[in-house]
Amino acid sequence: MMDGTIIETKNLTKIYNGNIKAVSDLNISIREGEIYGLAGPNGAGKTTTINMLITRIAPTGGSATVGGFDIVRNSLAVRRLIGVVPQDFTADEDLTGRENIMMVSQFYDVPKAKAKENIGRLLKLVELEDAADRLVRTYSGGMRKRLELIIGLVHEPRILFLDEPTLGLDIQTRTQMWNYVREIQQKLNVTIILTSHYLEEIDALAGKVSIIDHGKVLITGSPSDLKASLKGDIITMTLTDQKSADLMKTVPGVIEVVDAGPNTVKIKVENADEALPRVINFISQHELSTIKLTVQKPSLDEVFLEYTGRSIRDEEGGMDRMKTAMNLRRARQ
Ligand SMILES: Nc1ncnc2c1ncn2[C@@H]1O[C@H](COP(=O)(O)OP(=O)(O)O)[C@@H](O)[C@H]1O
Ligand SMILES: [Mg+2]
Repeated sequence: MMDGTIIETKNLTKIYNGNIKAVSDLNISIREGEIYGLAGPNGAGKTTTINMLITRIAPTGGSATVGGFDIVRNSLAVRRLIGVVPQDFTADEDLTGRENIMMVSQFYDVPKAKAKENIGRLLKLVELEDAADRLVRTYSGGMRKRLELIIGLVHEPRILFLDEPTLGLDIQTRTQMWNYVREIQQKLNVTIILTSHYLEEIDALAGKVSIIDHGKVLITGSPSDLKASLKGDIITMTLTDQKSADLMKTVPGVIEVVDAGPNTVKIKVENADEALPRVINFISQHELSTIKLTVQKPSLDEVFLEYTGRSIRDEEGGMDRMKTAMNLRRARQ
């Protein structure tokens, strides 16, 4: 499209069974080539949104276009443009990784030679070449997710949907996945729509994010803008002596000074990059010196807290992780 918009929703709405409002008047606009994050706790409506955009379920209200095609009237055209990595594991455990990808590429009618070439390249991209001819049942959780990631890419889609791509993985495996997602976006030049209830994941990957809760968009922006909009970095300082620490309130850019233990103060400032030199000057002028100093910028968790009044960590993960574990277990039997 002329202005670079590749996905656009207008009051997109899904009400299940006539009364469960899973997605409510959702308006988002996604630009070609970006990684767009849909962030929110369990039950926020992320998967429902994805399922509508990938034409798996029909909206009950509003509309959306993907690559310029209406998701209801032109669902076949939409499907040709997209790759999907669903929240739940879908690969066949009794086949090898390579066989799984082959099967999907046949489903999409990718010519054999082309498929071979793509598969080779994709396996390399996520470093699964060595495991490609092993049965998937022997894969670790991280390897399975990597396989799923490339299964969604074998037919060279322009747009890739990743629904909770690191759900249930340990933190180290998750950060590895982030690198693969970045590589894919850069090397294959696809637009990526990523959902996650891990806000640090969205922060690490997305150029733009919509934070959603109860089916509604609360705020949209780049992670750095959203964090910056909170106004307030925290400088924590342990001093040789706390006398006159209170006077730091007079330093320009300082919002608040709070006592935080023996000779320790937390100083809330508008922007630590600017305030820190002034605070340091103030300290030396008052013949104090610092023993320890940390600067903390707000995270997306704080942004979520600001807009919802509650912490996303309180509700992180439980049910979905259980479901995934159950699916994996069932698949293994
Ligand atoms: N097939 C369904 N039938 C009825 N309710 C559903 C169905 N799928 C999801 N829901 C409900 O819709 C809401 C949003 O769910 P979902 O889109 O899965 O959220 P998320 O992916 O953000 O966790 C939840 O309240 C969920 O219970
Ligand atoms: Mg979900």
